[in-house]
Amino acid sequence: MVVERVKGGVGAAIPHDSGHLHVTGEAIYTDDIAEARGTLYAAIGMSERAHARLKSVDLTKVRAAPGVVAVITAKDIPGKNDYGPVIADDPIFATALVQYHGQSLFAVAARTMEQARRAARLAVIEYEDLKPNLTAEAALRDQSFVLPTERLVRGNPRAAIASAPHRLSGKIRIGGQDQFYLEGMIAYALPKEDGTMHVYSSTQHPGEVQHQVAHALDVAAKDVVVECRRMGGGFGGKESQPGLFACVAALLAHKTRRPVKLRVDRDDDMMITGKRHDFITEYEAGFDDDGRILGVDFVLAGRCGYSADLSGSINDRAMLHSDNCYYLENVSILSFRCKTNTVSNTAFRGFGGPQGMVGIEAVIDDIALYLGRDPLAVRKVNFYGVDDRNITHYGQTIVDNVIHEIVADLEQSANYHARREQIRAFNRTSPHLKRGIALTPVKFGISFTATHLNQAGCLLHIYTDGTLLLNHGGTEMGQGLFVKVAQVVAEELQVDIDRIRITASDTSKVPNASPTAASSGSDMNGKAAQDAARKLKARLTEFASTHFAVAPETIVFRANEVRAGDKSLSFNELVKLAYFARVSLSATGFYRTPKIGYDRKTWSGMPFYYFCYGAAVSEVIVDALTGENRLLRVDILHDVGKSLNPAIDMGQIEGGFIQGVGWLTTEELCWNDKGKLMTHAPSTYKIPVASDVPEEFNARIYESGINAEDSIFRSKAVGEPPLMLAISTLHAIRDAIASTADHALSPRLDAPATPEAILFSIEELAARRAKAGVRAEPVLEASS
Ligand code: MTE
Ligand code: MOS
Repeated sequence: MVVERVKGGVGAAIPHDSGHLHVTGEAIYTDDIAEARGTLYAAIGMSERAHARLKSVDLTKVRAAPGVVAVITAKDIPGKNDYGPVIADDPIFATALVQYHGQSLFAVAARTMEQARRAARLAVIEYEDLKPNLTAEAALRDQSFVLPTERLVRGNPRAAIASAPHRLSGKIRIGGQDQFYLEGMIAYALPKEDGTMHVYSSTQHPGEVQHQVAHALDVAAKDVVVECRRMGGGFGGKESQPGLFACVAALLAHKTRRPVKLRVDRDDDMMITGKRHDFITEYEAGFDDDGRILGVDFVLAGRCGYSADLSGSINDRAMLHSDNCYYLENVSILSFRCKTNTVSNTAFRGFGGPQGMVGIEAVIDDIALYLGRDPLAVRKVNFYGVDDRNITHYGQTIVDNVIHEIVADLEQSANYHARREQIRAFNRTSPHLKRGIALTPVKFGISFTATHLNQAGCLLHIYTDGTLLLNHGGTEMGQGLFVKVAQVVAEELQVDIDRIRITASDTSKVPNASPTAASSGSDMNGKAAQDAARKLKARLTEFASTHFAVAPETIVFRANEVRAGDKSLSFNELVKLAYFARVSLSATGFYRTPKIGYDRKTWSGMPFYYFCYGAAVSEVIVDALTGENRLLRVDILHDVGKSLNPAIDMGQIEGGFIQGVGWLTTEELCWNDKGKLMTHAPSTYKIPVASDVPEEFNARIYESGINAEDSIFRSKAVGEPPLMLAISTLHAIRDAIASTADHALSPRLDAPATPEAILFSIEELAARRAKAGVRAEPVLEASS
């Protein structure tokens, strides 16, 4: 007998469930939902100062503007004037004090969007200017922080550095990054009967938006439903901050008793919402002749903006990833959470991890240049061991280390050593065009460091025609979560995936869901769905066993069929029989990540269930006269465990990598000296486009990957880790720059490595070399 495989089961490389809708434009995003009669359109009135007292706010002209139906300020909020996700320090509307340029002060509802936006500009506001702190340096100088300073120490770094054969210190600035989701922030609020509210929100965290709206309206959670079928990208930007827009729309809907849509203009979106934290990282390291780090001392200053938002966990994750793949026996990490008069920085793919990893990779590169060794060799001597040197600086024993295998494989397949030689030869005869190459590894911890968030729920129905409806607490932002979870259900129940209707995230179906973040969406919702599917399967099995009078062990579900002893019937037939026998065909599923738990006070325990690994080789060419550069070739080997869907995973690997390249090379955020963001549109803020993809792009999934833990079908999370593979591009650029000074000195290169930054770096390097003679001391600069 031919055993048929179910269509769209686990491991099948099937397309995104909405792929055909995305490309035809039929996919319904929040703005595409058919509007209800009487819908009004909202706009936010924004602060034009970065730091000021509000002396007076005159909204007479706003109220009188054409089409305006309602204008609201903090006074019109029945409940709490706050949407802070962790700490109550994010007012929906600023009152006495404004803390950043772009902060929301009031909102307008009008008959058209154009009218609302025009009216919002007519406010007459008197400010009493206060001195704005715009940079992390300024915040450090004034000791201005959103959260207490943290320090993590293992061993005795001071003594280890002091007694080491070699010492270096350095500093790198790491720029921020706008999430640049293609669908901007949007919320559509519909007042329903009896004081209830339905909100469509483009959010990674519908459950939190539900609470934020309930608090603002002074109603209970049961009175608010938040729904999101899909986002046109979130990238962390929609983890905590959609609450502002949802609250504003809901408050206006509440006041007018009419549906209100707030779709934020791109420029306003960029000025109002938080970005990736920019960091200043300083280090001092002591090491031996092989480049092995004996002690390292990091000082991290993350610019958080005006409020705490998720900055606590983000800066924690930077600390927890300051090791990347390296064993740091003696280490100190001091982390400042700088308060500035700028947007409140928030989650962005990697969640602080990338910033931590850029720091240690800079240390390794500087050591390699100092010793005149291949940076890859220095990386390898510092790798975590498999059986020894395998305890992280926060006390978690690494049991799944595959970085040695991945790097060895990639080194071969990318032909790293031979190409490095060829590049050196090329550079010797090419005075202005310089090539560079680098291989960098990635290790990324999976789980929310806030332990309670590691839970998920699912709701699964089987209808009498044998089709299913799937709902879970995760959200879809293009990453392919929904199709992966559907594949889990298809596999468990052995039904073709096209029988499963995937539905919108909805707080009335699955309550108290965590944000879809920390790359844990498929791990957690996949397991919750598996739990629900197994419950239904158990009920059907028990029923079939009784009905056909056979032992339960003889009942097998296989490709839309069920065998019960020597009987065989279709899944549909069994479902129908079960229905008539009054068997419940609906189940909830639940999952909590096992094993994890850690104590933030002592920085010890097991914050991560497991780690994801990968490595990349980038090769670049840089014009030393202009700083212009191109990414020529990229080779990636990335571990996704046993892939739930290799096509989706490959999309995440390639997309994440390119997004990381954007962060580290072209995306530059500039504020003027008054604290106004000047790069608030694609005309001035350059994200990567198709033509920035390297001509030769060899990305591979690590075929022998398997999760050492009992994750969903032994897969691994894939959403964030590939972004950090792009650190190889930054280091390839550094390599090209170093070649302009014969690799005798370590370049000072901040991120993003824009052509301008590259040119400055080359000039600074030349000046330093001229000053010091050819054999210069490669010490970068003393850390303060
Ligand atoms: N991929 C797409 N296409 N769009 C996105 O917004 N967000 C990333 C990543 N991949 C994102 C994406 C981020 S920040 C995270 S945390 C994960 O997807 C979240 O989804 P997951 O947990 O299902 O991987
Ligand atoms: Mo992703 S930054 O955890 O939303």
